[in-house]
Amino acid sequence: MKIWHDVASLRADVAGWKRQGLSVGVVPTMGALHEGHLSLVEAARAASDRVIVTIFVNPKQFNNPDDLANYPRTEERDAALLAPYGVDGIFAPAPAEVYPADFATTVSVSGLSETLEGTFRPGHFDGMATVVTKLFGMTQADRAFFGEKDWQQLQVVRRLVADLNIAVEIVGCPTVRDADGLAMSSRNMRLTAAERALAPVLNTAMREAAVALRAGAPVADTLAAAEARLAAAGFGRVEYLELRGAADLAPQGAVQDPARLLAAVWLGAVRLIDNIAV
Ligand code: PAF
Repeated sequence: MKIWHDVASLRADVAGWKRQGLSVGVVPTMGALHEGHLSLVEAARAASDRVIVTIFVNPKQFNNPDDLANYPRTEERDAALLAPYGVDGIFAPAPAEVYPADFATTVSVSGLSETLEGTFRPGHFDGMATVVTKLFGMTQADRAFFGEKDWQQLQVVRRLVADLNIAVEIVGCPTVRDADGLAMSSRNMRLTAAERALAPVLNTAMREAAVALRAGAPVADTLAAAEARLAAAGFGRVEYLELRGAADLAPQGAVQDPARLLAAVWLGAVRLIDNIAV
């Protein structure tokens, strides 16, 4: 497994693969890998001749400097985790390699970026869209694999690829959950033991709300009941718990296919997000 730190050596190897007619799959990550990432790697491995995992903690998508500073950086552990998965290489650039001093471009997907996460994390999706566009250019991947856990991110990436005619196929992969239903996330490792025991209530409340909505229960009452349940269980602020169109993320006053329930909720000092189909 190669480790590239600079774009030129990555591009030289990718160019060699392309000359041989080999397809390239990329799994963009910020490291601190868990089983959710490894499932993306497995999907990439099954669909591509060569697999690149990118590990880059992208400063432009953090609107909170403490969150950026506290984000786990575990490059050696990540490399050891990836070794058995047949990954051809890890691209782990330094910030200056991605954003040289004269860097001046931002990719901004209007509409989709301005709601839900966009309301609470201003600038997050511009930073994400900018780095993902760069990673597509740097890796020249034919396919890119993203988790449905970050549902809104997946919709933003699909939009930018369509709008900018980028020749990469976006593959969305199902959320990987612990046995108790908690969606895997690098942030889960910051939960205390008591918070970790409580955390699956988020998914349980969402699943129950989805069943009720599907059965025709009123949207506002159902979501209010789910929020009350989270508060009673000990969760903190619910930033959003909303029924939206699955692709356009438009608010839905009644279930219309395809619909998605999306939530962001604080538990102690950790912000959990989750989403499920309705
Ligand atoms: O989902 C993530 O880990 C990041 O948003 C991504 C796609 C790697 C871009 O930095």
